[in-house]
Amino acid sequence: MRALLTAFTSAIFALVAGSASIQSRQVAAGSLQQVQNYGDNPAGVPMYIYVPRSLGDSPAIVVAIHYCTGTAQAYYNGSPYAQLAEQYNFIAIYPSSPHSGTCWDVSSQQTLAHNGGGDSNSIANMVTWTLDQYGADPAKVFVTGSSSGAMMTNVMAAAYPELFAAGTVYSGVPAGCFYSQSGAVDGWNNSCANGQVQASPQVWGDTARAMDPGYEGAYPAMQIYHGSADGTLLPPNYDETMKQWADVLGYEYGSPEATEQNTPQNGYTTTVYGPKLEGIYAQGVGHTVPIRGDDDMRWFGLA
Ligand SMILES: *[C@@H]1O[C@H](CO)[C@@H](O)[C@H](O)[C@H]1NC(C)=O
Repeated sequence: MRALLTAFTSAIFALVAGSASIQSRQVAAGSLQQVQNYGDNPAGVPMYIYVPRSLGDSPAIVVAIHYCTGTAQAYYNGSPYAQLAEQYNFIAIYPSSPHSGTCWDVSSQQTLAHNGGGDSNSIANMVTWTLDQYGADPAKVFVTGSSSGAMMTNVMAAAYPELFAAGTVYSGVPAGCFYSQSGAVDGWNNSCANGQVQASPQVWGDTARAMDPGYEGAYPAMQIYHGSADGTLLPPNYDETMKQWADVLGYEYGSPEATEQNTPQNGYTTTVYGPKLEGIYAQGVGHTVPIRGDDDMRWFGLA
């Protein structure tokens, strides 16, 4: 009887252990892996993921979005997030743009709308898949990116505010600024890139809110970096982005809480609006501002 019970118990354990290992075998830890089927992928965006070797319970998620001409692999190699994932128990998602020239679509109506079927929709579905597969903590999902990936970070925060707790933007433009009148997918908007699209905080806030009109919850905390010598996405885009998030997050654009010179490093100026908004203007730095991984971890509340 006892032997039978033991056999029965170990069979149950084998079953449980078996199903757990099927799940963990799906994506190998410790290297960049493609995930083929992450659910609905309306824009055909390839998904790559870095699962840390040291994965613990309820991991956080950091979506790291590459620049124009980049790929998931290039951003994985050129950014600190995979190493940080080992240190801070998060899974890094690296979407890879499907477009020739591999900028992100931040111009079409589809991508600028919640569940609109564009690139942003596919990226949001990568997050949902990862939350589900790994029992990740839905309160600890973050988004960051450089250049085109920074523009997409603003779009993700505006169109999918319910998914993200915080975002960090390295040299982007406001959400909606790259809008294409002709409906171009992955279009280039010269007047925005050249810093000629300027509006009030309210108008920028409305542009962001219009991407998810029914939404009444909190928006992610945003940290915005921009270089004063950016010749690709001209510096006025810094001010316009700050106006947008100041309005969305309920701050008075004209009255920041503090302005800190030479912070976080010589030549950088940090403008603090409050716990949910900071801008960092990098004097003399071009396109793009170097990633500050440890500061990102602090902004995300992971460090
Ligand atoms: C560029 O974007 C702005 C909004 O930021 C829009 O008003 C303008 O029409 C766009 N330009 C083109 C050529 O679509």
